Amino acid sequence: MTIRMRLALLICGLVAFSFALSAAILAWSARRASDAQVESRLTAFNEELAASAEHAIAARNLSLLAPSARTAMMERGMLFLSVSRADGGTLWRAARAGFSEPLNEEGVRLALAAGRRPKSSYESSGASAWEWVIPLQARIETRKGTLGADTTGVVLRAGYDAAQLRREASAAAAQAAGPALKNLLLAALACLALGFAGAARLSAGFTRTIRKLLTGVQAVGEGHLSARVQTSRADELGELSGEFNAMSQRLKELEHLKESFLLTITHDLNNPLSAVTGYAELLRSGTYGPVTEKQAAAVDRISEGGHRLAESIDNILDLTRIEAGKMPVAPQELHLGTVVQTAIGPLEAKARELGVVFDASAIPDDDAVWADERALQRLLSNLAWNALRYTPKGGRVSLSFRRGPAGTPGEDVVVVEDTGAGIPKDRLSRIFEKFSRIEETAGAARLPSGPGLGLAICKRIAERHGGRIWAESELGRGSAFFVSLPRNSPGSSARP
Ligand SMILES: Nc1ncnc2c1ncn2[C@@H]1O[C@H](COP(=O)(O)OP(=O)(O)OP(=O)(O)O)[C@@H](O)[C@H]1O
Ligand SMILES: [Mg+2]
Repeated sequence: MTIRMRLALLICGLVAFSFALSAAILAWSARRASDAQVESRLTAFNEELAASAEHAIAARNLSLLAPSARTAMMERGMLFLSVSRADGGTLWRAARAGFSEPLNEEGVRLALAAGRRPKSSYESSGASAWEWVIPLQARIETRKGTLGADTTGVVLRAGYDAAQLRREASAAAAQAAGPALKNLLLAALACLALGFAGAARLSAGFTRTIRKLLTGVQAVGEGHLSARVQTSRADELGELSGEFNAMSQRLKELEHLKESFLLTITHDLNNPLSAVTGYAELLRSGTYGPVTEKQAAAVDRISEGGHRLAESIDNILDLTRIEAGKMPVAPQELHLGTVVQTAIGPLEAKARELGVVFDASAIPDDDAVWADERALQRLLSNLAWNALRYTPKGGRVSLSFRRGPAGTPGEDVVVVEDTGAGIPKDRLSRIFEKFSRIEETAGAARLPSGPGLGLAICKRIAERHGGRIWAESELGRGSAFFVSLPRNSPGSSARP
């Protein structure tokens, strides 16, 4: 998951959480408000009932309460209405069919003691009831005497269906919270949009710098040590970019140091080496007098070793130059036969001496390739020397050429094949790395090996041409190296 997505998710989560919390608080307070509202409405209604009851008592006709009770049962969920004595005895009652109110003497006693007792709740006849007990001010004459506020007391008991009251409260709460919830939802959506926009802006800044860093790291990994990350950030990413730039600057300085060291050393080696091979040639040619057969053989060894050393020095120099981007590759149309001859010419005598057939007859005389002449010569010379080194007496090294489909931007492929020691399959992908050597076949080498740079150079040369190099091999049976060269160099016009 990208940083941008994580940030967006985090902001969404925070907004959703705050929205849910606000909604819950809103719903809770709406519910409390509606509970209080229902209760205060009922209290007012009960006061009215109490006034009616006092009026009915004064008129000595408690059944005057009946119409109010019937209406309240239908419209307000009333379960019962009764006028009771302090001892709980009922003087008058009306109840919803099937509902029998409990005596509730305790409630009556408490109400009278307190002057007013609000409500109590209980289960009765399978319904849950809320009961208000209201002391009445009127006096009632009975056979036993007068009952009234100043004596033993008379109360009005009004019981309501708690479930219905709760439903009313919920409906009222929903009605009260509806518009507020809608506003809250709109606010949450606005916050969400703002959050998204903020996250997008924030993460765009992060990811832009991280991408620059990634590109820089990739460039350095590919050897472009001048890569720098430009950023004006003052945070940790800015610091990281600064460290990256300092690191690649140090690497560049070290690389420069290494290059100049290698160039100086190899240059210093080249001069005495040229003198060694030059004087060996002069000795061999008899310029300094006749040489015996033994002396000639020794001089030949000196000359051969000198040439090999020169080849290795050239490889080191070339690799250093290529890696420093200082070996320009200027592809042009080349006569392949001529390049092959120049590259393998110096090997032919050695091949004869080792009893290996060197066959370049499959290279067509009139075929042309698009390549840098010196670079292609070095590449072919390295492949041919390798093939010769590992091919036993009586073996064969052959060069061939395969033209890509005409008229298309296909690939021309040069192949160098041998019937030598071969390379284990699991090592094929690593032989193009610097300093690689296959120990298993080291004993099969018929010529001394170099430092292990030849194939690394070949790979870089092929890639600088926009092509590639790969190998196929079977241990003990031989190897084939393929070099593909694009038919058109990048940016050039099509070859005729
Ligand atoms: N044709 C081949 N047959 C068998 N093994 C090969 C062949 N070509 C290359 N190799 C193996 O790959 C290794 C790397 O080859 P590479 O040309 O890079 O180095 P090198 O020849 O040892 O030294 P250098 O080329 O620097 O003189 C060799 O040491 C050898 O083990
Ligand atoms: Mg080599």
